[in-house]
Amino acid sequence: MNHLELPPLNRASGIIRLPGSKSISNRMLLLAALSEGRTEIRDLLDSDDTRVMLAALVKVGVGLTAIGCNAYVIEGCRGQLPVREADLFMGNAGTAIRPLTAALALSGGHYRLSGVPRMHERPIGDLVDGLLQIGADIRYEGNAGYPPLSIHPATVKLDAPIRLRGDVSSQFLTALLMALPLTGRHAVIEMTTALISRPYVEITLNLMARFGVRVEREGWERFSIPAAQSYRSPGVLHVEGDASTASYFLAAGAIGGGPVRVEGVGRESIQGDVRFADELEKLGATITRGDTWIEAAAPRGKLKAFDLDLNHIPDAAMTLAVAALFADGPCRLRNIASWRVKETDRIAAMAAELRKIGATVEEGADFLAVSPAPTFSSGAAIDTYDDHRMAMCFSLAALGGVSVTINDPACVNKTFPGYFDAFAEVAAPVIAIDGPSASGKGTVAERVAAAFGYHYLDSGSLYRLTALAGLRAGKALDDEAGLAALAASLPARFSAGRIYLDAADVTDAIRTEEISVGASKVAALPAVRAALLDRQRAYRRFPGLVADGRDMASVVFPGAVAKVFLTASAAARAERRYKQLIAKGMPANMHALLQDLQERDARDAQRSVAPLRQCDDADRVDTTEMSIDAAVAAVMVIAKRQGLRSR
Ligand code: DC
Repeated sequence: MNHLELPPLNRASGIIRLPGSKSISNRMLLLAALSEGRTEIRDLLDSDDTRVMLAALVKVGVGLTAIGCNAYVIEGCRGQLPVREADLFMGNAGTAIRPLTAALALSGGHYRLSGVPRMHERPIGDLVDGLLQIGADIRYEGNAGYPPLSIHPATVKLDAPIRLRGDVSSQFLTALLMALPLTGRHAVIEMTTALISRPYVEITLNLMARFGVRVEREGWERFSIPAAQSYRSPGVLHVEGDASTASYFLAAGAIGGGPVRVEGVGRESIQGDVRFADELEKLGATITRGDTWIEAAAPRGKLKAFDLDLNHIPDAAMTLAVAALFADGPCRLRNIASWRVKETDRIAAMAAELRKIGATVEEGADFLAVSPAPTFSSGAAIDTYDDHRMAMCFSLAALGGVSVTINDPACVNKTFPGYFDAFAEVAAPVIAIDGPSASGKGTVAERVAAAFGYHYLDSGSLYRLTALAGLRAGKALDDEAGLAALAASLPARFSAGRIYLDAADVTDAIRTEEISVGASKVAALPAVRAALLDRQRAYRRFPGLVADGRDMASVVFPGAVAKVFLTASAAARAERRYKQLIAKGMPANMHALLQDLQERDARDAQRSVAPLRQCDDADRVDTTEMSIDAAVAAVMVIAKRQGLRSR
């Protein structure tokens, strides 16, 4: 089986732009399909579960056009699905099969819905019972109460309230609520048990309202949809970031120092799982909120032990089960029975895997009690049960300073295909080496990277490439907007020690004195620096990164585990550059080199954005009198002092 080995980690900090919310994406897609008019949905989640919904809508004849960057235009069918007979594969996407079952049952066609084997073990009986009460024709093809299902045309009667259970999954209520306006008649749903996961129903009501349908709610017991309402497109909609996915990054900040900021959800969010941040706060984490972002940082010492009712955030609650490993005492997660019928039996799965890390775990029908171990077991191989959340949760265990192997890591594709790259962007260790040009930092950084088995980023080369591309495109080196646009889409590639711009090998072309001077000029332009920021951060990958430049420690990777300021006297640096150029057979003049270097130092140090300076928390290494070997050894000592291990 495919697996991913995460290295021992001890810190997390950084910023993550969240992928779109799964719950909102799939609801919006269905409502847009059923409504009158054309809807543009932006920032849709790109994942297995949304692809299941998209494919199903296409199969029933809904007009759908991808317009790039996770945006789609959907031609609403005014409640009349064009294709009246279809066999639909639902994978393991609960947020697709439940609402589609209800919508198709009221659509007057012949449909079949099936999924992966686990989907055929996930209950849908309460929803089908609700639909049968109003005359729908739905038949079980296998076990009663479970998919696969076949659906046939039927005459719907709505003279009595629909009586529905709400204690297995709130998605059954969501499905009925979204489908009933298709009848155009007054409909009432009465809950026969307490409703779980209520915040998800709030998302449903919120989105239905945006599509012009009002639901009257009496507590959480009775829902009524007034007659003569139908869905109308609101035009352009944005999907907010996924609040359940945010939980892994916020927990990483709360465990690994932080701050970790997630962008895409905040105070304004309509998702219940944003309340995960409130729970983290109860554990002692420092939480800061903006309208569209949330940030988490660790408390002094460990997280506080907790005993919490987590019924309102069933998905994000899984993240707390792993956070419990980092608490100062036994923890209890209560009222989580719905975990048993999710992608896997999550209570059993969580218990089994937490034990592999060394925790003592007691599992009950609807609770989990986790006593953290004094030390984490190293090298645990975590099974993920085809459950994206198991994989994402257990990546956090590596922050206990132990290596963790995640089996079948691709299961994260269900909601976040880029999860491990994003996790690396906040958790992979970084050694930041800054300093003036010709201080030897490039050579030292490369050798340190090799010794640790880490990736290497020569950030100066990005400024050099921008200068080269700018000059080749005939741009003036003070054309800030033009150069920033070039920097943002630089077709640069680093491969086997060579540097390419498109297909051209420019390794030597970017090292000329003309480009050195040009790079220093473009590097002083704030828009160019901003354009290169995300690109540099994307180099932060497992098992770790050594990055050299001028602002690695101060701006690009402020949370770097080790920060080194590598410097040497201007005379020593000019002499090194002189020898390098002569060795390459290039013309060189010692006096001119020294002067150039001093001018460049001044420009790098005096510019308004990200000037060259030693950070307060960086170690200074002066290489004026040092050999390369000695400089490498000095940096290795600094990195190892921070707990990093070389190969
Ligand atoms: O490290 P180098 O000489 O290859 O860098 C080329 C130019 O880019 C230099 O003038 C400084 C600038 N630079 C920067 O401003 N910030 C970085 N992180 C790296 C380089």
